Amino acid sequence: MKDILVLGIESSCDETSAAVVKNGREVLSNVINSQIKIHEKFGGVVPEIASRSHTEVINSVVKQALKEANVTIEDIDVITPTYGPGLVGALLVGVSYAKGLSFATGKPLVGVNHIEGHIAANYITYKDLKPPFICLIISGGHTHLVNIKSYTEFEILGKTKDDAVGEAFDKVARVVGLGYPGGPKVDKLAKQGTPNVVLPKTHIDNLNFSFSGIKTAILNLYHKNPNINKADLCASFEKNVAEVLVKNSIQALKQTNLEKIALAGGVSANSYIRAEFSKLEDMGIKVYYPELKLCTDNAAMIASAGYYNFINGKKSDLTLNAIPNLKIDK
Ligand code: KG4
Ligand code: ZN
Repeated sequence: MKDILVLGIESSCDETSAAVVKNGREVLSNVINSQIKIHEKFGGVVPEIASRSHTEVINSVVKQALKEANVTIEDIDVITPTYGPGLVGALLVGVSYAKGLSFATGKPLVGVNHIEGHIAANYITYKDLKPPFICLIISGGHTHLVNIKSYTEFEILGKTKDDAVGEAFDKVARVVGLGYPGGPKVDKLAKQGTPNVVLPKTHIDNLNFSFSGIKTAILNLYHKNPNINKADLCASFEKNVAEVLVKNSIQALKQTNLEKIALAGGVSANSYIRAEFSKLEDMGIKVYYPELKLCTDNAAMIASAGYYNFINGKKSDLTLNAIPNLKIDK
Protein backbone atom coordinates (compact mmCIF):
# COMPACT_ATOMS: atom_id res chain seq x y z
CA MET A 1 0.00 0.00 0.00
CA LYS A 2 1.22 3.51 -0.80
CA ASP A 3 2.38 5.61 2.16
CA ILE A 4 0.05 8.44 3.14
CA LEU A 5 1.74 11.67 4.24
CA VAL A 6 -0.45 13.98 6.29
CA LEU A 7 0.23 17.65 7.01
CA GLY A 8 -1.38 18.43 10.38
CA ILE A 9 -2.10 22.01 11.46
CA GLU A 10 -2.96 22.97 15.06
CA SER A 11 -4.00 26.47 16.23
CA SER A 12 -6.86 25.90 18.70
CA CYS A 13 -5.31 27.72 21.67
CA ASP A 14 -1.83 29.12 22.30
CA GLU A 15 0.39 26.83 20.23
CA THR A 16 0.87 27.21 16.48
CA SER A 17 2.00 23.84 15.25
CA ALA A 18 2.49 21.97 11.98
CA ALA A 19 3.62 18.39 11.50
CA VAL A 20 4.18 15.79 8.81
CA VAL A 21 3.13 12.27 9.83
CA LYS A 22 3.42 9.08 7.75
CA ASN A 23 0.55 6.55 7.86
CA GLY A 24 -0.83 8.03 11.08
CA ARG A 25 2.00 6.70 13.25
CA GLU A 26 5.42 7.94 12.14
CA VAL A 27 6.33 11.57 12.90
CA LEU A 28 8.59 13.09 10.24
CA SER A 29 8.39 16.56 11.82
CA ASN A 30 6.43 18.30 14.58
CA VAL A 31 7.14 22.04 14.83
CA ILE A 32 5.57 23.82 17.80
CA ASN A 33 5.62 27.58 18.24
CA SER A 34 4.46 28.27 21.79
CA GLN A 35 2.93 31.61 22.75
CA ILE A 36 3.57 31.10 26.48
CA LYS A 37 5.97 34.05 26.66
CA ILE A 38 3.35 36.35 25.06
CA HIS A 39 0.49 35.37 27.42
CA GLU A 40 2.56 34.92 30.60
CA LYS A 41 2.27 38.55 31.67
CA PHE A 42 -1.54 38.38 31.45
CA GLY A 43 -1.71 35.26 33.65
CA GLY A 44 -3.56 33.28 30.95
CA VAL A 45 -4.33 33.08 27.24
CA VAL A 46 -5.73 36.30 25.71
CA PRO A 47 -7.83 35.02 22.76
CA GLU A 48 -7.37 37.96 20.40
CA ILE A 49 -3.62 38.07 20.94
CA ALA A 50 -3.50 34.31 20.32
CA SER A 51 -5.28 34.68 16.93
CA ARG A 52 -2.94 37.44 15.83
CA SER A 53 0.12 35.49 16.81
CA HIS A 54 -1.10 32.40 14.90
CA THR A 55 -1.61 34.55 11.78
CA GLU A 56 1.89 35.94 12.05
CA VAL A 57 3.74 32.64 12.36
CA ILE A 58 1.59 29.97 10.69
CA ASN A 59 3.23 30.14 7.28
CA SER A 60 6.76 29.86 8.65
CA VAL A 61 5.73 27.03 11.02
CA VAL A 62 4.26 25.02 8.10
CA LYS A 63 7.31 25.68 5.92
CA GLN A 64 9.59 24.56 8.74
CA ALA A 65 7.55 21.36 9.24
CA LEU A 66 7.89 20.49 5.52
CA LYS A 67 11.60 21.29 5.61
CA GLU A 68 12.31 19.19 8.71
CA ALA A 69 10.37 16.27 7.19
CA ASN A 70 12.46 16.68 4.06
CA VAL A 71 9.38 16.87 1.82
CA THR A 72 7.65 19.52 -0.31
CA ILE A 73 3.95 20.36 -0.36
CA GLU A 74 3.67 18.19 -3.54
CA ASP A 75 4.60 15.11 -1.47
CA ILE A 76 1.73 15.69 0.98
CA ASP A 77 -1.44 13.58 0.46
CA VAL A 78 -3.86 15.22 2.91
CA ILE A 79 -4.09 18.53 4.81
CA THR A 80 -5.69 18.23 8.25
CA PRO A 81 -6.37 21.32 10.39
CA THR A 82 -7.96 21.31 13.86
CA TYR A 83 -11.45 22.85 13.46
CA GLY A 84 -12.63 22.60 17.09
CA PRO A 85 -13.05 22.71 20.00
CA GLY A 86 -11.03 25.77 20.95
CA LEU A 87 -10.89 29.53 20.66
CA VAL A 88 -12.85 30.57 17.58
CA GLY A 89 -10.42 33.20 16.30
CA ALA A 90 -7.44 30.95 16.89
CA LEU A 91 -9.10 27.98 15.14
CA LEU A 92 -10.06 30.15 12.15
CA VAL A 93 -6.42 30.91 11.43
CA GLY A 94 -5.47 27.23 11.01
CA VAL A 95 -8.70 26.32 9.22
CA SER A 96 -8.46 29.22 6.75
CA TYR A 97 -4.77 28.61 6.10
CA ALA A 98 -5.42 24.90 5.45
CA LYS A 99 -8.34 25.71 3.15
CA GLY A 100 -6.17 28.09 1.13
CA LEU A 101 -3.46 25.45 0.87
CA SER A 102 -5.97 22.77 -0.14
CA PHE A 103 -7.52 25.05 -2.78
CA ALA A 104 -4.14 26.03 -4.21
CA THR A 105 -2.71 22.50 -4.34
CA GLY A 106 -5.85 20.44 -4.96
CA LYS A 107 -4.92 18.22 -1.96
CA PRO A 108 -7.83 16.80 0.10
CA LEU A 109 -8.84 18.62 3.28
CA VAL A 110 -9.86 16.77 6.46
CA GLY A 111 -10.99 18.68 9.57
CA VAL A 112 -9.86 17.20 12.89
CA ASN A 113 -11.45 17.36 16.33
CA HIS A 114 -8.76 18.53 18.77
CA ILE A 115 -9.82 16.00 21.43
CA GLU A 116 -9.56 13.16 18.92
CA GLY A 117 -6.06 14.49 18.24
CA HIS A 118 -5.14 14.15 21.92
CA ILE A 119 -6.37 10.53 21.86
CA ALA A 120 -4.34 9.83 18.68
CA ALA A 121 -1.12 10.98 20.39
CA ASN A 122 -1.14 7.47 21.87
CA TYR A 123 -1.07 5.89 18.38
CA ILE A 124 2.21 7.68 17.73
CA THR A 125 3.84 6.59 21.00
CA TYR A 126 2.50 3.00 20.82
CA LYS A 127 2.72 1.70 17.26
CA ASP A 128 0.60 -1.38 18.05
CA LEU A 129 -2.19 0.29 20.08
CA LYS A 130 -5.58 -0.30 18.47
CA PRO A 131 -9.16 0.37 19.60
CA PRO A 132 -11.11 -0.58 21.59
CA PHE A 133 -9.71 0.97 24.76
CA ILE A 134 -10.65 3.55 27.38
CA CYS A 135 -9.09 7.00 27.10
CA LEU A 136 -9.00 9.59 29.87
CA ILE A 137 -8.51 12.99 28.25
CA ILE A 138 -7.32 15.52 30.79
CA SER A 139 -6.41 18.90 29.35
CA GLY A 140 -6.78 22.61 29.97
CA GLY A 141 -10.26 22.63 28.46
CA HIS A 142 -11.53 19.05 28.81
CA THR A 143 -11.93 16.16 31.22
CA HIS A 144 -13.48 13.23 29.35
CA LEU A 145 -13.60 9.52 30.04
CA VAL A 146 -14.21 7.96 26.64
CA ASN A 147 -14.78 4.50 25.21
CA ILE A 148 -12.69 4.47 22.01
CA LYS A 149 -14.82 2.02 20.02
CA SER A 150 -12.90 2.46 16.77
CA TYR A 151 -10.55 5.04 15.27
CA THR A 152 -13.54 7.26 14.49
CA GLU A 153 -16.27 6.21 16.98
CA PHE A 154 -16.34 7.52 20.53
CA GLU A 155 -18.70 7.12 23.45
CA ILE A 156 -18.36 9.56 26.35
CA LEU A 157 -18.75 7.67 29.63
CA GLY A 158 -18.09 10.59 31.98
CA LYS A 159 -16.99 14.20 31.95
CA THR A 160 -16.53 17.21 34.17
CA LYS A 161 -19.63 19.09 35.21
CA ASP A 162 -17.69 22.34 35.70
CA ASP A 163 -13.93 23.04 35.43
CA ALA A 164 -11.50 20.90 33.46
CA VAL A 165 -8.62 19.35 35.44
CA GLY A 166 -6.01 21.50 33.70
CA GLU A 167 -8.06 24.61 34.46
CA ALA A 168 -8.07 23.62 38.15
CA PHE A 169 -4.27 23.09 38.07
CA ASP A 170 -3.82 26.52 36.47
CA LYS A 171 -6.12 28.22 39.01
CA VAL A 172 -4.44 26.57 42.01
CA ALA A 173 -1.08 27.73 40.63
CA ARG A 174 -2.39 31.27 40.27
CA VAL A 175 -3.82 31.32 43.82
CA VAL A 176 -0.52 30.27 45.38
CA GLY A 177 1.43 32.60 43.08
CA LEU A 178 3.19 30.12 40.80
CA GLY A 179 2.20 31.84 37.54
CA TYR A 180 1.07 30.59 34.13
CA PRO A 181 0.89 27.88 32.86
CA GLY A 182 0.45 26.40 36.28
CA GLY A 183 0.25 22.64 35.69
CA PRO A 184 3.98 21.95 35.33
CA LYS A 185 4.76 24.28 38.27
CA VAL A 186 2.27 22.55 40.60
CA ASP A 187 3.73 19.21 39.45
CA LYS A 188 7.24 20.32 40.45
CA LEU A 189 6.35 21.93 43.78
CA ALA A 190 4.08 19.05 44.87
CA LYS A 191 7.11 16.73 44.82
CA GLN A 192 8.46 18.58 47.88
CA GLY A 193 5.17 18.43 49.79
CA THR A 194 3.16 16.03 51.93
CA PRO A 195 -0.52 15.51 51.04
CA ASN A 196 -1.77 16.39 54.53
CA VAL A 197 -4.36 19.09 53.73
CA VAL A 198 -7.98 17.91 53.85
CA LEU A 199 -9.86 18.92 50.69
CA PRO A 200 -13.43 18.29 49.42
CA LYS A 201 -14.27 15.31 47.21
CA THR A 202 -14.00 15.76 43.45
CA HIS A 203 -16.39 12.94 42.54
CA ILE A 204 -19.89 13.97 41.54
CA ASP A 205 -22.03 11.11 40.17
CA ASN A 206 -21.57 8.00 38.02
CA LEU A 207 -18.40 8.54 35.98
CA ASN A 208 -18.57 12.34 36.06
CA PHE A 209 -16.21 14.78 37.74
CA SER A 210 -16.33 18.18 39.42
CA PHE A 211 -13.26 20.26 40.12
CA SER A 212 -14.70 23.66 41.01
CA GLY A 213 -15.22 22.77 44.72
CA ILE A 214 -11.60 21.79 45.31
CA LYS A 215 -10.39 24.90 43.50
CA THR A 216 -12.57 27.15 45.70
CA ALA A 217 -11.53 25.27 48.85
CA ILE A 218 -7.86 25.92 48.04
CA LEU A 219 -8.60 29.59 47.34
CA ASN A 220 -10.34 29.91 50.74
CA LEU A 221 -7.65 27.98 52.63
CA TYR A 222 -4.93 30.14 51.13
CA HIS A 223 -6.74 33.42 51.84
CA LYS A 224 -7.44 32.38 55.42
CA ASN A 225 -3.85 31.33 55.94
CA PRO A 226 -1.34 32.74 53.39
CA ASN A 227 1.46 31.03 55.34
CA ILE A 228 0.09 27.59 54.59
CA ASN A 229 2.78 25.31 53.12
CA LYS A 230 2.32 25.67 49.34
CA ALA A 231 4.05 22.39 48.55
CA ASP A 232 1.72 20.48 50.92
CA LEU A 233 -1.27 22.23 49.36
CA CYS A 234 -0.15 21.27 45.82
CA ALA A 235 0.58 17.67 46.89
CA SER A 236 -2.86 17.40 48.54
CA PHE A 237 -4.55 18.83 45.46
CA GLU A 238 -2.78 16.38 43.14
CA LYS A 239 -3.56 13.41 45.40
CA ASN A 240 -7.23 14.33 45.58
CA VAL A 241 -7.50 14.82 41.80
CA ALA A 242 -5.56 11.63 40.96
CA GLU A 243 -7.81 9.61 43.28
CA VAL A 244 -10.99 10.50 41.43
CA LEU A 245 -9.37 10.11 38.01
CA VAL A 246 -8.17 6.60 38.90
CA LYS A 247 -11.44 5.63 40.62
CA ASN A 248 -13.64 6.63 37.68
CA SER A 249 -11.22 5.06 35.19
CA ILE A 250 -11.35 1.69 36.98
CA GLN A 251 -15.14 1.89 36.95
CA ALA A 252 -15.15 2.68 33.21
CA LEU A 253 -12.90 -0.32 32.52
CA LYS A 254 -15.19 -2.60 34.55
CA GLN A 255 -18.31 -1.27 32.87
CA THR A 256 -16.94 -1.88 29.37
CA ASN A 257 -14.97 -5.07 30.11
CA LEU A 258 -11.87 -3.45 28.63
CA GLU A 259 -8.34 -3.91 29.96
CA LYS A 260 -6.53 -1.03 28.28
CA ILE A 261 -6.51 2.62 29.36
CA ALA A 262 -4.71 5.48 27.63
CA LEU A 263 -4.17 8.93 29.11
CA ALA A 264 -4.16 12.01 26.89
CA GLY A 265 -4.00 15.82 27.09
CA GLY A 266 -1.71 18.28 28.84
CA VAL A 267 -2.41 17.04 32.39
CA SER A 268 -1.36 13.50 31.39
CA ALA A 269 2.19 14.93 31.54
CA ASN A 270 1.76 15.14 35.34
CA SER A 271 4.29 12.89 37.04
CA TYR A 272 2.15 12.05 40.10
CA ILE A 273 -0.92 11.20 38.00
CA ARG A 274 1.23 8.99 35.73
CA ALA A 275 2.67 7.19 38.74
CA GLU A 276 -0.79 6.59 40.24
CA PHE A 277 -2.10 5.17 36.94
CA SER A 278 0.96 2.90 36.65
CA LYS A 279 -0.29 1.10 39.76
CA LEU A 280 -3.22 -0.22 37.68
CA GLU A 281 -0.71 -2.50 35.92
CA ASP A 282 -0.80 -4.65 39.10
CA MET A 283 -4.50 -5.27 38.39
CA GLY A 284 -3.66 -6.60 34.92
CA ILE A 285 -4.60 -3.35 33.20
CA LYS A 286 -2.35 -2.04 30.44
CA VAL A 287 -1.73 1.70 30.83
CA TYR A 288 -0.60 3.95 27.96
CA TYR A 289 0.73 7.53 28.16
CA PRO A 290 1.82 9.66 25.21
CA GLU A 291 5.45 10.79 25.37
CA LEU A 292 5.66 14.18 27.13
CA LYS A 293 5.97 16.31 23.98
CA LEU A 294 2.80 14.72 22.62
CA CYS A 295 0.70 15.30 25.78
CA THR A 296 0.34 19.05 25.26
CA ASP A 297 -0.94 20.65 22.05
CA ASN A 298 0.93 19.69 18.89
CA ALA A 299 0.12 19.05 15.23
CA ALA A 300 1.52 15.50 15.00
CA MET A 301 -1.42 14.19 17.04
CA ILE A 302 -3.79 16.14 14.74
CA ALA A 303 -2.17 14.60 11.65
CA SER A 304 -2.54 11.12 13.19
CA ALA A 305 -6.26 11.63 13.90
CA GLY A 306 -6.62 13.21 10.43
CA TYR A 307 -5.09 10.10 8.84
CA TYR A 308 -7.69 7.85 10.48
CA ASN A 309 -10.50 10.20 9.42
CA PHE A 310 -9.16 10.18 5.87
CA ILE A 311 -8.81 6.41 5.46
CA ASN A 312 -12.29 6.00 6.97
CA GLY A 313 -13.82 8.36 4.41
CA LYS A 314 -14.38 11.34 6.74
CA LYS A 315 -13.38 14.20 4.46
CA SER A 316 -14.13 17.94 4.50
CA ASP A 317 -14.64 20.52 1.77
CA LEU A 318 -13.94 24.24 1.43
CA THR A 319 -17.00 25.10 3.55
CA LEU A 320 -15.12 23.76 6.63
CA ASN A 321 -15.62 26.20 9.52
CA ALA A 322 -14.26 26.59 13.06
CA ILE A 323 -16.57 25.01 15.67
CA PRO A 324 -15.55 26.26 19.15
CA ASN A 325 -17.68 23.70 21.03
CA LEU A 326 -17.23 20.72 18.70
CA LYS A 327 -18.14 17.38 20.34
CA ILE A 328 -16.65 13.93 19.75
CA ASP A 329 -19.81 11.88 20.20
CA LYS A 330 -22.10 13.28 17.51
O1 KG4 B 1 -3.75 19.67 26.18
P1 KG4 B 1 -3.27 21.03 26.48
O2 KG4 B 1 -1.91 21.44 25.98
O3 KG4 B 1 -4.26 22.11 26.00
C1 KG4 B 1 -5.65 21.95 25.95
O4 KG4 B 1 -6.14 21.31 24.98
O5 KG4 B 1 -6.31 22.42 26.90
O6 KG4 B 1 -3.33 21.15 28.08
C2 KG4 B 1 -2.86 22.28 28.75
C3 KG4 B 1 -3.09 22.05 30.22
C4 KG4 B 1 -2.81 23.29 31.07
O7 KG4 B 1 -3.88 23.45 31.96
C5 KG4 B 1 -1.52 22.92 31.80
O8 KG4 B 1 -1.39 23.56 33.05
C6 KG4 B 1 -1.68 21.42 31.96
O9 KG4 B 1 -2.22 21.01 30.70
N1 KG4 B 1 -0.40 20.74 32.19
C7 KG4 B 1 -0.12 20.06 33.33
C8 KG4 B 1 1.21 19.59 33.23
N2 KG4 B 1 1.70 19.99 32.00
C9 KG4 B 1 0.69 20.68 31.38
N3 KG4 B 1 -0.88 19.83 34.43
C10 KG4 B 1 -0.32 19.12 35.43
N4 KG4 B 1 0.94 18.67 35.40
C11 KG4 B 1 1.74 18.86 34.33
N5 KG4 B 1 2.98 18.39 34.33
ZN1 ZN C 1 -5.24 20.35 23.81
